Amino acid sequence: MIFESHAHYDDRRFNPDREELLSSMQEHGIETVINVGSDLDGVKKTLELAGQYEFVYGAIGIHPSEISGLDEEVYEWLRAQCSHPKVVAIGEIGLDYYWDKEDEVKRSQRYWFCRQMELAREQGLPVIIHSRDAAEDTLKLVQGIHGEEIPGVVHCFSYSPEQAEEYVKMGYYIGIGGVITFKNARKLKETAAAIPLSHILLETDCPYLSPEPERGKRNSSLNLVYVAEEIARLRGISYEEVVDATRENARRLFRKVK
Ligand code: NI
Repeated sequence: MIFESHAHYDDRRFNPDREELLSSMQEHGIETVINVGSDLDGVKKTLELAGQYEFVYGAIGIHPSEISGLDEEVYEWLRAQCSHPKVVAIGEIGLDYYWDKEDEVKRSQRYWFCRQMELAREQGLPVIIHSRDAAEDTLKLVQGIHGEEIPGVVHCFSYSPEQAEEYVKMGYYIGIGGVITFKNARKLKETAAAIPLSHILLETDCPYLSPEPERGKRNSSLNLVYVAEEIARLRGISYEEVVDATRENARRLFRKVK
């Protein structure tokens, strides 16, 4: 069965049918879902979902574009949630220079990324890293903080195969989602074929980034079949092999998942 390593079912776009959709996951072959918090409100909703559904686990963290809502008090609150039995990772955390281009904001992103990496180290939890238009700074920061001691995944990977190789060297996983099915995703297709299968995770980032043939519509974990099929095609292996390997990889990384 499929291990979904990155979803946002707390998003308001799931308000109309969240319960119906989540209740149908297992009959559609989705075994486990990691719901990922992006801001304080999202983290609270993530904990609620994890309490409601046995197969849903939570990642807690503040996204680089949401750090204006992060201070010492919130940080302490996050730390207190780490012992929750269904909190399995710190994330999503990282750097996003796509919207934020001012030096001061970038500096603040790096500061809170570092602090949340340290929280993961202290709590013995893996990290889920978001990095957009910040390839160089992200790699430098992760290497500088001894990323090889803090297991994690670079989610929705969008950089070069060479960059992926640097993360794999540190033991990191590469999260691959719907973008892999896009015709113009040449770099990502190359990466997915080149890195060891033992370092790939399946993810949607839903409601965003629906794969072909559902591109443009609201995404959900049910669409992971298209992602797994494309990875299988690129590597010349079977669909089952991709599903089984990525499930095993995810269970190796997110050790608190039962
Ligand atoms: Ni996300």
